[in-house]
Amino acid sequence: MCAFETLPGGVDARTVPQIALANGQKMPAIGLGTFGSDHVSAPDVAKVVGEALRLGYRYIDCAACYGNEAEVGQELKKALDKGLDRKELFVLSKVWNDCHQPEKLIAACKKSIQDLQVGYLDMYLIHWPFPNYHAPHCDVNSRNPDSRPYIHEEFMQSWRAMERLVDEGLVKGIGVSNVTIPKLELILRDARIRPAVNEMELHPSMQQGQLFQYCVDHGVQPIGYSPIGSPARPERDRTPEDVCDLEMPEVVEIARAHGVHPAIICIKWAYQRGQVPIPFTTKAKNALSNLRAILDDPLSPEEMDVLTGCERNCRLIKGQVFLWPGAESWRDLWDIDGTIPGWKGYGKA
Ligand SMILES: NC(=O)c1ccc[n+]([C@@H]2O[C@H](COP(=O)([O-])OP(=O)(O)OC[C@H]3O[C@@H](n4cnc5c(N)ncnc54)[C@H](OP(=O)(O)O)[C@@H]3O)[C@@H](O)[C@H]2O)c1
Repeated sequence: MCAFETLPGGVDARTVPQIALANGQKMPAIGLGTFGSDHVSAPDVAKVVGEALRLGYRYIDCAACYGNEAEVGQELKKALDKGLDRKELFVLSKVWNDCHQPEKLIAACKKSIQDLQVGYLDMYLIHWPFPNYHAPHCDVNSRNPDSRPYIHEEFMQSWRAMERLVDEGLVKGIGVSNVTIPKLELILRDARIRPAVNEMELHPSMQQGQLFQYCVDHGVQPIGYSPIGSPARPERDRTPEDVCDLEMPEVVEIARAHGVHPAIICIKWAYQRGQVPIPFTTKAKNALSNLRAILDDPLSPEEMDVLTGCERNCRLIKGQVFLWPGAESWRDLWDIDGTIPGWKGYGKA
């Protein structure tokens, strides 16, 4: 057996900053995304995971619906077999929308643990707050007739199952993703074990200032997905109005001043603002530059201010395919006016 080794040019993982979570856990300040956007094959995603571990990444952001946990698990297992300490890893997975029913949720978590071959998960999230299934690779107009709006009592039944996972030692922490302030208010009110993290879309043109601050104020660590503006996202997540972060003049100019790719500026901004970015890449070279981005050559306060000015409220991952019959537009998923469509009661779940 040869030892687990850092690749030449890689980073000593012990030098990567750790974020203290409200539940007592620590997580690395940057992770590697593993969503192949429906076009990068599972073996190709897994290959980068193996390389990223040897470059110094320890947080791997997984999900059952990415369709590659078994392949990613083989790479995690190889690293563990070669001597990487399991306690150094931070493996996050998410339950998909067709498994919100409590017994299914527990089974889905066990399946992810088995596929990822890590014994337990460091963090488990409810991927979307709706039990609305859509098949991988589906078209933007695809709708599931069984889809429903957010129903808090139903969500809390799923959350009770999440709490059981912690009680039973299958996961160390639990969290949410794609929620809004109105939904978080209800979840925080009724949770026995509070969500430790919220995985949300965050990049210079989509800063979600209010939700970000609400999370920080309530001890919920924001994890920023699509930190580079997801330039290779699936067709269903593209509209003509979308802004491309990598081409924003402010981002390009700051990148030129630092002599780096605009992607690196997006990652520096994310880290310095306080969210945990989880960039995806198919290339080890980019994985390494992204990791190094948070370690050296920080942005100045003035540059951070310029990037704050890049906010365009440009949501890329709109979630149209989760809409229910009668919903008007993807905006109904995001409680734009501060209320949850269809939600009437505020009784305790
Ligand atoms: N919770 C949720 O609902 C949710 C939703 C979306 C995403 N996510 C998570 O967030 C992760 C990241 O989001 P994402 O995959 O949408 O997009 P992203 O990380 O914003 O963008 C990935 C793209 O950026 C390019 N890139 C990466 N590093 C680069 C560099 N240094 N220089 C130039 N280009 C670079 C990659 O191209 P190359 O391959 O050429 O490097 C890839 O096309 C996902 O993989 C997933 O884990 C979660």
